[in-house]
Amino acid sequence: MQYTFPENFWWGTAASGPQTEGVFEGDNKGDSIWDYWYKESPELFFNQVGPEKTSVFYEKFQEDIQLMKETGHTTFRTSIQWSRLIPNGTGEVNQTAVNFYNEVIDELIANDIEPFINLYHFDMPMKMQEKGGWESRETVEAYVAFAKVCFELFGDRVKKWFTHNEPIVPVEGGYLYQFHYPAIVDMKKAVQVAFHEILASAKAINVYHEMNLGGEIGIILNLTPSYPRDENNPEDVKAAKAADAFFNRSFLDTAVKGEFPSDLVEILSEIDVLPIIEEGDLETIKENTVDLLGVNYYQPRRIKAKESTTKLAEGPMPDDFFDNYEMPGRKMNPYRGWEIYEKGVYDILKNLRENYGNIKCYISENGMGVEGEERYVNDQGIIEDDYRIEFVQDHLKYVHQAIQEGSNVRGYHMWTCMDNWSWTNAYKNRYGLIAVDLDNNHKRTIKKSGRWFNELAKNNGFEA
Ligand code: FCB
Repeated sequence: MQYTFPENFWWGTAASGPQTEGVFEGDNKGDSIWDYWYKESPELFFNQVGPEKTSVFYEKFQEDIQLMKETGHTTFRTSIQWSRLIPNGTGEVNQTAVNFYNEVIDELIANDIEPFINLYHFDMPMKMQEKGGWESRETVEAYVAFAKVCFELFGDRVKKWFTHNEPIVPVEGGYLYQFHYPAIVDMKKAVQVAFHEILASAKAINVYHEMNLGGEIGIILNLTPSYPRDENNPEDVKAAKAADAFFNRSFLDTAVKGEFPSDLVEILSEIDVLPIIEEGDLETIKENTVDLLGVNYYQPRRIKAKESTTKLAEGPMPDDFFDNYEMPGRKMNPYRGWEIYEKGVYDILKNLRENYGNIKCYISENGMGVEGEERYVNDQGIIEDDYRIEFVQDHLKYVHQAIQEGSNVRGYHMWTCMDNWSWTNAYKNRYGLIAVDLDNNHKRTIKKSGRWFNELAKNNGFEA
């Protein structure tokens, strides 16, 4: 069967500043929490590889953009690092960074690749973290000022903006499950952090719209459909709904509808962790919803009613309301430990169509991380990553089906272009269409999936 996508469908990949750029002599970059955390505790990072070198996009962006062209990109998402542009978080703008981002944006456009720019990808400037990071109201204002500087500097050419990538992740990583700095466990702070991110996003959207720059602004969310163990068991269903409220609807409802889900508010109030909200905040959130939604999809959640009595922490945790369910027979990515469930993307898109006004959206991340890909290198030195091609294709079939049924999906970005640095996992799992050899001057080699992606984009679809 032929799977053809709508005209002008966006084909590309997503990446982020902190995962690709690197840190160089004379670049005047300030530390983000990642630079700081790595210096403080390198042992937390796989093979002790830190963010300072990554895939050196800072030096190689011209070569990389040529490779994007060779692999069929019509769009590319990256992020502006706040700590590069404004090293102290507030105040002086780093001209070296302005030059760099201008060159990147111009080079993309000159190659007919539309830049999609995200403003926050887990990378709090350390100077702001010292003042509490997202726990503090001051950070909200500093972030909005940073966003405004970005719109002023680059908004003449960048027409697709995003306020956050996966804002739930800094909440989970930093304040619940300890995989981002500051790695504490505190549900009350977690909720305040989430609230400040939501408010910051709404305020940045407001600033962008008032500037009338003629583009669109949205948010990128990792949506994890929550499936109950047994749909006929009300306790399982209730648990799945709680997980959905915590991890999906918290950001989805506020971004698209400008409202907090009432069941979430009930739970948070029951456990006494409601955030501090100032006068006017709820109106700001109500009035400044997104134009466009990015959907990152990797895996679903399987949920059952709480059975275990072990508590993850002394204080309240989301996990007090559900247990994760290891569904027998589910398909797993053996390397990443994540379930592969292609239909999940269809369920997300159907939900957006039916319950979120069919908001304009695109798949902003989807992809497969694999450890030890070197073993798939053929005698021409090319990684034959058929598993990745199959992964993308199987998801795209469901995206196609959703579009046939009326979903408002405008594009697909795979995670990612070049193999890049994945936070504490560093280079453990590789996700790229293009391999990066860390031991050989960061040499790039297009994988089999990169050639395939080029055909996919050129044909605006595939046959399978
Ligand atoms: C997503 C993140 C991205 C990358 C992929 C593998 O959750 O948005 O930065 O690390 O996972």
